Amino acid sequence: MTQRISFSLDATDGKARTGVISTPRGDIRTPAFMPVGTAGTVKAMMPESVRATGADILLGNTYHLMLRPTAERIDRLGGLHKFMNWERPILTDSGGFQVMSLAGLRKLTEEGVTFASHVDGSKHVITPERSMEIQKLLGSDIVMCFDECPALPATEEDVAKSMRMSMRWAQRSRDAFGDRPGHALFGIMQGGVTQELREESSQALTDIGFDGYAVGGLAVGEGQEAMFGVLDYAPDYLPQDKPRYLMGVGKPDDIVGAVKRGIDMMDCVLPSRSGRNGQVFTRHGAINIKNARHADDPRPLDENCTCPACSQYSRAYLHHVFRSHEMISGMLLTWHNLHYFQEIMQGMRDAIAAGTFAAWEADFHAVRAAGDI
Ligand code: GUN
Ligand code: ZN
Repeated sequence: MTQRISFSLDATDGKARTGVISTPRGDIRTPAFMPVGTAGTVKAMMPESVRATGADILLGNTYHLMLRPTAERIDRLGGLHKFMNWERPILTDSGGFQVMSLAGLRKLTEEGVTFASHVDGSKHVITPERSMEIQKLLGSDIVMCFDECPALPATEEDVAKSMRMSMRWAQRSRDAFGDRPGHALFGIMQGGVTQELREESSQALTDIGFDGYAVGGLAVGEGQEAMFGVLDYAPDYLPQDKPRYLMGVGKPDDIVGAVKRGIDMMDCVLPSRSGRNGQVFTRHGAINIKNARHADDPRPLDENCTCPACSQYSRAYLHHVFRSHEMISGMLLTWHNLHYFQEIMQGMRDAIAAGTFAAWEADFHAVRAAGDI
């Protein structure tokens, strides 16, 4: 009998929560930040390095992996964990969101979505049933429902229609997933920035019943104020005793604001993608290593950071390798950014457990506002 995935909520401070999601592949400490390993790799990082930054879980993508190298091939080779040499938990997104942002020609119907691959133009179909099958072939620990995230701008009527179809897809996802001990299925709330729609969506999902609940349809261009507006009420519609996952977020201050409002998990390409683009996040704010002012600077990125980039290299060196397009640039800056994001998560987990989240948050904002970089 395989151990079931369970969530223990250990402490709350205001609406902020800390706990542990226990899985057969290891514990996920929450609030958790999940680095994005879209195509079977967190770009520029060895898996053991990703683990060294403090990550308990990675995110993978149905869309990318079904196209190349295909879910069937990964299954034949022993599953995604073995394939990419990451034995800890993996959450996979379900595909629809990526189809809408990456695929060529696409057609959406009640049945699912038909699209042309961005790799070779070949034609593919994803339905809720096929998404569940792919995520099973990959061996994903946390499977996401197949949903649609409407592109902005959209009318409230369009958002409502789309959300209701996503809720029918959530039921089909639940039916197709079945009972798989050791694996979890999360529902995805939609409804844009309309409170009544968010409430309706939450009700539909909790009626079906999931192992966790995601807040989807945010960080798609509505801005931080509107996103926090939704997060001021949306988590309250979800069960207290299940993890809540905010999809595709975000910048350091987005993450802190989301945890303050009751979110337990997040993922974002930002630390890894911006690392490759020379953007560095630090406690004091963001810097771009490309900037000429770093060329002669013997100091580390952040004198208090213990990551390899900060403990062994100067800003001058990091500037030089970035400008020279050396591969170590993306490696070191990604490592630093992921390390910093995980440090934020650890800081919040400790503060929530100690009941000092408000003081931690005030300090987080004060150090950034000083802008001493
Ligand atoms: N990633 C970011 N937002 C979303 C969303 O609304 N749905 C899914 N499936 N993935 C996302
Ligand atoms: Zn560092």
